[in-house]
Amino acid sequence: MSDTERVALAFSGGLDTTVCVPLLEEEYGYDEVIGVTVDVGQPEAEFAEAEETAEALDLEHYVVDAKAEFAELCFDAVRANASYQGYPLGTALARPVIATSILEVAKEQGCTGLAHGSTGKGNDQLRFEAVWRDSDLEVIAPVRELGLTREFEQSYAEERDLPIEGGDEGKYSIDTNLWSRSVEGSELEEPSYVPPEGIYEWTNAPTADTLEIEVGFENGYPVSLDPGEQSSQSNRNATRSDADSDMEPVELIEELNDLAGGYGVGRSDIMEDRMLGLKVRENYEHPAATVLLNAHAALEDLVLTKEERAFKKQVDHEWSEKGYQGLVNAPLVSALEGFIAETQTRVTGSVTIRFEGGQARPVGRSSPYAVYSAEAASFNTEDITGSIEQSDATGVAKYHGFQERLANRVINQNKE
Ligand code: ARG
Repeated sequence: MSDTERVALAFSGGLDTTVCVPLLEEEYGYDEVIGVTVDVGQPEAEFAEAEETAEALDLEHYVVDAKAEFAELCFDAVRANASYQGYPLGTALARPVIATSILEVAKEQGCTGLAHGSTGKGNDQLRFEAVWRDSDLEVIAPVRELGLTREFEQSYAEERDLPIEGGDEGKYSIDTNLWSRSVEGSELEEPSYVPPEGIYEWTNAPTADTLEIEVGFENGYPVSLDPGEQSSQSNRNATRSDADSDMEPVELIEELNDLAGGYGVGRSDIMEDRMLGLKVRENYEHPAATVLLNAHAALEDLVLTKEERAFKKQVDHEWSEKGYQGLVNAPLVSALEGFIAETQTRVTGSVTIRFEGGQARPVGRSSPYAVYSAEAASFNTEDITGSIEQSDATGVAKYHGFQERLANRVINQNKE
């Protein structure tokens, strides 16, 4: 190997990562920078922008397709009903996947350093570095370490004639992947500011149109979509006429984002507590995630016992916290997934979801594992519960509330 020092940069072609290229050479003494863009389902335009900018910078550029792997992680998140304060974790789950892919390219290309363009305020720096600091490569965050502001980056780029015009970044900071699209910054930061319709790209404003679809699950994993029939005024066409089973995760998510987004499903506007303690206003779009999470929860409600449901809430909460932190490889997560896997062996069946008024509401569910017996509920015939009869409940009813009645009597006696 030569003694040329190479550094791999997480590269998007946006302003932050573009200014990082000369900075890594000038301020950090690297001889060569390579840019790595990891595909986790960003829109085509972002790759075109990255490609163009890389060319203009004369940057050696690699694109890695990690969509399938990312989609699998999103489906693990569905099994864990994963959500952080109402956010289904798109960016958070993508970061470890991206970081791992970049580390692999860096090693293949003989790099001794890894760099990202994150600032010192967000979560992404922590998620990237949680993966990278497990290697012996140097980890560099120029924007954070040199305390750069956006104004500085803009004038620095102009001075050096860096290619930034190609990127139409607008005033918002946007992060898009298969699972969610986040929009933050500028006047959206003010919690009282009501976002204009224009910030949304994946979702229409909800209308009076409704649609019922069926989502199929096997072992807690979404496996099929049946777009069903649409019930109203408009001439919107469902994109598919019959059930499509065993769809690939990427395809299923993409199709559902389109379909549900058309009905205004999956918008959220939340106050998010970041890892470093900042409370930040965030806007997200995540139609597929909303549908799959709602459908999955509805199926669990049918097949799990009351106590499994209650305990799983805690398990799901812990999974979501680690997901938000970008620590899905933690031993705790494997342990939680042991419990999750055990419960999901029964989460097989299908759920009817109605898109209505921007909501994705479960309106029907069925499963061979349903903990439901029509006979038991109606007391008509003998059934799996054996020979229980209505009158057997008399004893239970006599006991019910016994301790409370006694306690109240004692309290009252002591008042006298
Ligand atoms: N607040 C979200 C998160 O921490 C989204 C962050 C979006 N990232 C970005 N670089 N714009 O996961």
